[in-house]
Amino acid sequence: MLVDTFQRPLKDLRISVTDRCNFRCTYCMPFDEYVWIAKHEILSFEEIERLARVFIGLGVERIRLTGGEPLLRKDLHRLVERLAALEGLQDLCLTTNGALLAEQAPLLKAAGLKRINLSLDTLDPEKFKRIVKRGDLAKVLEGLFAARDQGFHPIKINAVLERGVNDDEIISLVEFSRSHGFGIRFIEYMDVGNSNNWKSDKMVSKEEILERIRAAFPMTEVGREQGRAPAVDYRFADGGGDFGVIASVTEPFCGGCSRARLTADGKFVTCLFSEVGHDLKTPMRAGASDRELRDRVVSIWNRRSDRYSESRLEALHSQQGYRAEDHKKIEMISLGG
Ligand code: GTP
Ligand code: 5AD
Ligand code: SF4
Ligand code: SF4
Repeated sequence: MLVDTFQRPLKDLRISVTDRCNFRCTYCMPFDEYVWIAKHEILSFEEIERLARVFIGLGVERIRLTGGEPLLRKDLHRLVERLAALEGLQDLCLTTNGALLAEQAPLLKAAGLKRINLSLDTLDPEKFKRIVKRGDLAKVLEGLFAARDQGFHPIKINAVLERGVNDDEIISLVEFSRSHGFGIRFIEYMDVGNSNNWKSDKMVSKEEILERIRAAFPMTEVGREQGRAPAVDYRFADGGGDFGVIASVTEPFCGGCSRARLTADGKFVTCLFSEVGHDLKTPMRAGASDRELRDRVVSIWNRRSDRYSESRLEALHSQQGYRAEDHKKIEMISLGG
């Protein structure tokens, strides 16, 4: 089995299909100098499918489509169709901001997509505009309900919490998700990319999130799915469903990290906080065989020693502290989380 230097296998591949986005979320958006990937650099659906086969051959069991905003990629359902048919793939999922979901949910369902994660940080239309800068809360909610009507299950809401911005909405977001049968995960604000101006006091910690929810709803801990998912799950004692917390900052989960990323221009990235990716597109377009592509991935994964969030926590607790701006990273918009 393919493993890295910490004996971690490669099981999950997060494929970014575009770096374009119709939102400009304050916690994600890159510098003005960010250069968008040129059209001819973007992998075609044939190229993505080919690489997906190579990765599945190496042990990948789950694929997630991300962006930027993946639904901006023309005819995304055609890619879903191709990937859903791949033998050996156990899970195919999409992470979206939901703005274009109402139109595309039926096509995605028919193409074989099973489940969706949707970003929703607030239920207040004015605050929504302040956070995402463009776009409209009503369209996102329309997309969310259209996906439910199409039978997608589970649908998980992702809410990134930022202190003083939307941490007053924890309970209303829980109530909203419970009453409509959605799952919800609260996400600790992370220092992704190079310009979200992250400071540790903007982050609302897992401990604080649980304290607030517990005061309103008794619950029990379920744990991490398969023991190594980013989210720790909880169940409401009254049978009102589940929720989760993704505590990448205060309780890092690098130890079991089997996730890799593929950028829209074909770079293989071994950590969300990596400084660089490894180009697979150039060799592929130069005529490399599947065997050669496979060997390249194997040698990169064999050398992998990423544990960024664990070392950030160590630094946060150290005397020197941690300064997000000292670490150059690939932008979130080209990795899709
Ligand atoms: P599920 O299988 O549905 O639980 O998916 P997921 O939680 O892995 O994916 P999603 O795209 O919904 O991501 C939710 C949050 O987790 C985002 O903020 C991601 O950036 C974060 N996340 C996902 N994988 C990793 C990881 O490997 N490291 C870190 N630090 N954060 C991650
Ligand atoms: N911290 C935590 N999560 C983030 N996401 C985007 N930026 C950040 C950040 N700075 C989340 C989005 C989306 C997922 C893919 O990543 O909300 O749900
Ligand atoms: Fe917001 Fe996601 Fe777009 Fe980033 S990629 S700006 S988090 S919607
Ligand atoms: Fe994996 Fe890097 Fe996230 Fe740690 S910080 S869980 S190594 S992607």
